[in-house]
Amino acid sequence: MKIIIINGPNLNLLGKREPEVYGSKTFDSYLTELQSKYSELQLEYYQSNIEGELIDKIQEVGFSYDGIILNAAAYTHTSVGLGDVVKAVNTPVVEVHISNTHKREDFRHVSYISSGAKGVILGFGLKSYELAILSFL
Ligand code: DQA
Repeated sequence: MKIIIINGPNLNLLGKREPEVYGSKTFDSYLTELQSKYSELQLEYYQSNIEGELIDKIQEVGFSYDGIILNAAAYTHTSVGLGDVVKAVNTPVVEVHISNTHKREDFRHVSYISSGAKGVILGFGLKSYELAILSFL
């Protein structure tokens, strides 16, 4: 089973970025844990700070992979293009957020991704990604 985690802008700074909100673990070390725990899966990872690159990646994998776990980060709340590509592809997309965006500022309560997503998991810290993996098993 081929699953890809796609992270959007500023998520390359996990571990350093607002640790009180996002925790102090780097994504690389978390990914290594996930890959060894779910070694039966082909679990890939892609991160970009650039909206168009995220759209390109979803188009590239979205007709052949079994699952996409997408944390579009700030673009969640702004990007019609990302919302459209999630609807355009065949591969189911699970929207993930580390923080509970509904407990935060009003602008984070809007998601352009959710209406095209298979499901949404948010607020469980990095564990949100593992819960998304489990949703595909
Ligand atoms: C986030 C929440 C977004 O509002 C924010 O812009 C992020 C991270 C999360 O994982 O909690 O960058 O997607």
